[in-house]
Amino acid sequence: MILKNIDFQKVIEKVSFETLKFPDNGKVAAYIPPLARVNPNKFGISLVTLDGKIYSFGDYDEKFSIQSIAKVFALAIAYNLLGKELWKRVGVEPSGTPFNSLVQLEYDKGIPRNPFINAGALVISDVLLEHLENPKRYLIEYVRKLCDCENIDYNPEIAEGEKAVGYRNAAIVNLMKDFGNIKNDVDEVLDFYFNLCSIEMTTVQLAKSFLLFAAGGILPHSGERILTVSKTKRINAIMQTCGFYDEAGEFAFKVGLPGKSGVGGGIAAIHPGYYSVAVWSPRLNEKGNSISGMKALELLTTETQLSIF
Ligand code: DON
Repeated sequence: MILKNIDFQKVIEKVSFETLKFPDNGKVAAYIPPLARVNPNKFGISLVTLDGKIYSFGDYDEKFSIQSIAKVFALAIAYNLLGKELWKRVGVEPSGTPFNSLVQLEYDKGIPRNPFINAGALVISDVLLEHLENPKRYLIEYVRKLCDCENIDYNPEIAEGEKAVGYRNAAIVNLMKDFGNIKNDVDEVLDFYFNLCSIEMTTVQLAKSFLLFAAGGILPHSGERILTVSKTKRINAIMQTCGFYDEAGEFAFKVGLPGKSGVGGGIAAIHPGYYSVAVWSPRLNEKGNSISGMKALELLTTETQLSIF
């Protein structure tokens, strides 16, 4: 098919060189020391096709904090646990507000707009705590399984750092507890959420883990079905409409792929039926998304002339 004609290694390199020519005055997330310390000039990208071929460039072998990208894994687990009942506790609409905003939560009576803003991810965390015996272990083993790699873990320094400054997340979870949308102890929910945000991966590992969403819910390396076709479609739809907070429209406009960003400077995106791609560049724009990461993905879909639109 079309894919056979694409030399992805050449494309990835061309896109990377082009991206690095663009000025990037973005700021590294500095709200906790381990993120503030990251070299702002790092840049890595990996693309994995459905047949498992990996194409990379730059700092693709270095681990970074995937932050909110992990919210996609947590959602996949929670959706499998609760099915459509999940949508009684969290919505599927873009919020159009910053990821840590409290504004809509009171009007919406403690029901977050979507699973990828902090409020939504806190509800998802609560669901995992409610239904899993050891949610922290379950989550990390789930991610390792998707990636088919063992060396993925939480970073305790990042989790502790998140906790030390987590006043807004504490406010969000307490407000939702008051509305009856949090079942567990708020400190337990926060602890799980901060660990969720602390997972570290390379772009290769991240792209491999996202291949599931490009492959209709099947793990291409083992053939195991993890999500139904319908659930995969819906998760991808949420990534498309809510994966970049109040910049989801801009990402759809420029890139045209479902994806998810994190304040560590990572972005994971997928082209259903074709590939998954992960990029890391720590300089962020004012919305909290990686500037060079977005540029690289824009150039990727422009160069390949392949997007979902
Ligand atoms: O919870 C927080 O505020 C941070 N851990 C941010 C997570 C994140 O990556 C949000 N956005 N891009």
